[in-house]
Amino acid sequence: MGIETRKMEHVEIALKKKIEAREKTAGFESVHFKHYSLPEMNFSQIDTSQTFLKRKFKLPFMIVSMTGGFLEAEKINKELAVAAELEGIMLGLGSQRAMLEKKDLRKTFNVRDVAPKVFLCGNIGAVQLQNYSIKQIESLVSDIGANALCIHLNPLQEAVQKEGDKNWQNASKLIGKVCDGLSVPVIAKETGAGINSEVALELESLGVSAIDVSGVGGTSWSAIELFRKGAKAGEQFWDWGNSTVDCLEECSNSVKIPLIASGGVRSGLDVAKSIRLGAAIGGAGLPFIKAQNAKGIAGITAEIQKWKEELKIAMFLTRSKNLEDLRKAKLESDCCCD
Ligand SMILES: Cc1cc2nc3c(=O)[nH]c(=O)nc-3n(C[C@H](O)[C@H](O)[C@H](O)COP(=O)(O)O)c2cc1C
Repeated sequence: MGIETRKMEHVEIALKKKIEAREKTAGFESVHFKHYSLPEMNFSQIDTSQTFLKRKFKLPFMIVSMTGGFLEAEKINKELAVAAELEGIMLGLGSQRAMLEKKDLRKTFNVRDVAPKVFLCGNIGAVQLQNYSIKQIESLVSDIGANALCIHLNPLQEAVQKEGDKNWQNASKLIGKVCDGLSVPVIAKETGAGINSEVALELESLGVSAIDVSGVGGTSWSAIELFRKGAKAGEQFWDWGNSTVDCLEECSNSVKIPLIASGGVRSGLDVAKSIRLGAAIGGAGLPFIKAQNAKGIAGITAEIQKWKEELKIAMFLTRSKNLEDLRKAKLESDCCCD
């Protein structure tokens, strides 16, 4: 099966089937802020800006890595990019492996013509690094004008997928090499099974600049592979992994590099909770590709605006004038006897 067909099927299945975690959640329902009846601030002056990898963003949101590599992906990526640039948030592109294998697929990742300023993250799989030189990886970044490179860790998907790459022996070493040799920062990311603190510490020591924990609670790659090719193990491993909230709690207590929260993040309130738990940015995939599919750029911007409002309400009611305050906001579970 060609890589183009595979990439197209992933998007089609994500849009048409129920592919989110079904027995586990991301964990946000168990995180509750303490409510303040006297906010002591003007709602219109709430500052939602965030600095991440030396760039200032209007909102602490990211449309995480999803697509590219088949013809229809060009329109999806361009619309995601236009919306991300308009709203001042980060954008990730899907795996660029297809581009290395077939040069004419480059255009499906090219968004700089419509979004010259958006903070753009390229993407390649950790297990694929063994097949390419640093020069080739650098070309992925320079060909599309990316500001950072996401290296995805998807051993669950590769393991359940019949044609998956199952030799992960040198993945860490290769990630370290890319971090040393690349001209832009590297972000390590999971794809929905979560990064625990042990792995986060390893990634930090390899030189990655940020980590997207991408935990269980949203898109399940076991589910996608089960629908795509009847990958039988997908049924057993549908909910495999560490929840996004667990990952944040573990990783924020262990690593110093900034964290992105994705995996079942579905509202501005979830982003507020993620920031309280130590993330710098809250991101999502599925809600934004669904919004793009339903209503194009207007659909994506409406979703971002909705999240913005929800984030601001959470900040208002927790006396958080900015994201630094939000990070210290009180939770119901915090001890009240101080
Ligand atoms: C259709 C689709 C395609 C994806 N493709 C990629 C990819 O190419 N590279 C990657 O790192 N993650 C990919 N992901 C995973 C997301 O970046 C993210 O880690 C995961 O979907 C969890 O977020 P969500 O629950 O908000 O969807 C994809 C997700 C979706 C829904």
